[in-house]
Amino acid sequence: MRAAVTGGAGFIGSHVVDALLARGDEVVVVDDLSSGRREWVPANAELVEQDIREPYSIDADLVFHLAAQADVGTSMERPSFDAEVNVVGTVNTLEAARACGAGVVFSSTGGAIYGDVEEPATEETPRRPVSAYGIAKLCAEAYLDGWNRIHGSNHAVLRFANVYGPRQSATLEGGVVSIFMERFRSGEETLVFGDGEQTRDYVFVGDVVRAALMAAGRGGVFNIGTSAETTVNELHRLCAEVAGVTAEPRRVDPRPGDARRSVLDASSAERELGWRPETSLTDGLRLTWESIEQ
Ligand SMILES: NC(=O)c1ccc[n+]([C@@H]2O[C@H](COP(=O)([O-])OP(=O)(O)OC[C@H]3O[C@@H](n4cnc5c(N)ncnc54)[C@H](O)[C@@H]3O)[C@@H](O)[C@H]2O)c1
Repeated sequence: MRAAVTGGAGFIGSHVVDALLARGDEVVVVDDLSSGRREWVPANAELVEQDIREPYSIDADLVFHLAAQADVGTSMERPSFDAEVNVVGTVNTLEAARACGAGVVFSSTGGAIYGDVEEPATEETPRRPVSAYGIAKLCAEAYLDGWNRIHGSNHAVLRFANVYGPRQSATLEGGVVSIFMERFRSGEETLVFGDGEQTRDYVFVGDVVRAALMAAGRGGVFNIGTSAETTVNELHRLCAEVAGVTAEPRRVDPRPGDARRSVLDASSAERELGWRPETSLTDGLRLTWESIEQ
């Protein structure tokens, strides 16, 4: 197979590239290196420096579309820029895939699309995005769904929970595991917003990569999470334990718009793709800490 990975120089994309190369695929990475890093693209993958806001072409059997403006704060400050990357960039990617007959696996988001939930969100839970990022991802999903209908393609949408693992940037707000761990490593204080009892669903990047590979050519929309909720207080405690430090966070005002509960029901991915998360939170945190320590 020849696979293209947009955003393949980024956190999740670079792990997808590693997995594709490991199974013997030929890989081309499409990335403008705005948040991705050249050194994360292995020498045996081809790197095409391309801004997906402009139409482009590729030659591939499969496209993993991970390129995105993935920062919620930026999406609120610059919503049209966010839409250019996340909506127009997705349309350009769909057209590039259509021209070469490739199937697409698209990385959407559960947390930003469902917003605050009262129980684990299924794919049918009402979508109530509360950020420009969530709106743009939902809009991009509608293009995939529409393209499947109009052009008879079989593209898949994966709604990721909070992904964590090696190479995640501590400079983006979503990377709370990396933020805690980087601060433990450098001896800086950690911050917890509000009472810390807000919950998230943390899924290890290796599990997300397996889901992406399993979804290729399957069509449909799938939540990719663990169905387990962890409070920020508990996450802080677990990260400190793995890092071997005893540290109490400084508590600061809650962030406006922060969901109280965010958790995904991934039983559809298990039923239809045969996917389930395999990495426990403590094992995933240990692997992440080991990569940060190196
Ligand atoms: N990390 C998470 O918890 C999470 C959760 C839900 C969904 N997602 C989605 O998964 C995907 C990957 O996220 P990530 O955490 O690896 O983020 P990331 O920022 O590490 O990766 C995004 C990549 O896209 C590239 N990129 C950005 N704008 C581009 C453009 N205009 N043209 C070409 N390339 C461009 C960046 O350089 C980077 O390599 C994104 O679509 C994101 O929305 C991530």
